[in-house]
Amino acid sequence: MNWKKYYDEKISTPEQAIKDIHDGDCVVMGHAAAAPRIIQRAMAEHCEDYNDVMIFHMTTLGDNECLHPRCYGHFRHVSNFLAANSREAVNHLAGDFFPAYFKDVPEMIGDEIPCEIAAFQATPPNDEGYCSLGVSCDYALAAIRRARSVIIETNDRMPFVYGNTMIHVSQIDRIIPCSYQLPELHSAKPSEVEAAIGHFCSTLVSDGSTLQLGIGAIPNAVLNSLGEKNDLGIHSEMFSDGVADLMKKGVVNGRRKTIHKGKVVATFIMGTKELYEFVDGNEDIELYPVDYTNNPFVIAQNYRMISINSCLEVDLMGQVASESIGMRQYSGIGGQIDFVRGASIAREGKSILAMPSTAANGAISRIKPFLTPGSAVSTTRNDVNYIVTEYGIARLKGRTLKHRAEDLIRIAHPDFRPTLIEEYERRFRCKFEN
Ligand code: COA
Repeated sequence: MNWKKYYDEKISTPEQAIKDIHDGDCVVMGHAAAAPRIIQRAMAEHCEDYNDVMIFHMTTLGDNECLHPRCYGHFRHVSNFLAANSREAVNHLAGDFFPAYFKDVPEMIGDEIPCEIAAFQATPPNDEGYCSLGVSCDYALAAIRRARSVIIETNDRMPFVYGNTMIHVSQIDRIIPCSYQLPELHSAKPSEVEAAIGHFCSTLVSDGSTLQLGIGAIPNAVLNSLGEKNDLGIHSEMFSDGVADLMKKGVVNGRRKTIHKGKVVATFIMGTKELYEFVDGNEDIELYPVDYTNNPFVIAQNYRMISINSCLEVDLMGQVASESIGMRQYSGIGGQIDFVRGASIAREGKSILAMPSTAANGAISRIKPFLTPGSAVSTTRNDVNYIVTEYGIARLKGRTLKHRAEDLIRIAHPDFRPTLIEEYERRFRCKFEN
């Protein structure tokens, strides 16, 4: 089949492409650094032509112009993971939060998440007419399979990434050739508190482990503390600069992985320009759809699987809130519980949830008698394993309520221990012994 014959017919301007979107449609948009920025801009510029168009997206790195207030009323944002640029629109004014595990998104597309339009980025086609979805694989293939119209920005600065990331030109309805630098995520140098947390987490990582690291400052600090380890592997949702640094040092080599030996496996890549250059055409890195990477039964096949994620607060029973602060939806569950459960089934697996002991410049303890009213429980007390703060490690798995409370109080900030001890003594009707 000579794909070049129909390739030219599919080339569209952004304005032509967005004419495929009709009132009442749902547009499923690419994730993180692979969000389709030209389509977002064109839609935002023409927002007044649209009524009640639902946009499903997760994090958009950089500016998503469809989230600007002038688009409210024209676009309805539905998302299961919020970030600074989408919190306001989704929580209050122009959308609704959609509680769902990241791994379930591909299966929901076309059903619970209608998908008339799929709008994504990819590389320009290779000689056989295949484009790589580049840095975000996650739910793209599911949307491309289900959509009435598939609109792809073929960005010549999108890295070519191996794995299950290929789509053929014949699957695309509108092609927008373009060239722009992917938006970057720069991580700040870990603070003293984060470095201490990173150090405690690193003591739980033995050589030959396969790691998953989540989003936020803490997973970065952990990566910085792993330089002396050997033969680590990665099976993760996200792939970041810290992992690339450990690959360059030879610490991450996947030699002892029990599935995908020698390969770093993830579903999306988010970081700096240097990271995007590092992954381009790199055969050691493979992306797969999120319903594969985040499936607990796949995760569990990794020997010494260790998941390391961050959370917002923990109550004295070990219930963990990672995505909301009271009624305020802050982010989403992503793959946290899937990796917690996968790691707990894996041979010699562990899951770690880490956080600074306080928030709001020390004014609030993140270890609390009760979660803030309205907070969603992300990881239940039955699933939780290790909790880490800058004061140490509490292993909650296999511990009674009383012992959990004692261990959590020991890793709480000293300023808040007296209040927590008071609650402990009231609850368990006995003296707290340090
Ligand atoms: N009460 C009030 N405010 C709180 C709080 C609490 N219990 N906990 C945190 N905050 C505030 C912080 O002070 C901070 O405020 P600031 O931005 O004004 O400084 C803000 O909330 C964010 O907290 P922080 O700890 O800095 O968050 P982070 O950027 O490191 O992200 C999570 C942490 C938990 C939000 C993030 O890891 C997440 O979304 N996790 C769930 C998903 C997941 O684990 N996925 C894993 C697979 S990739």
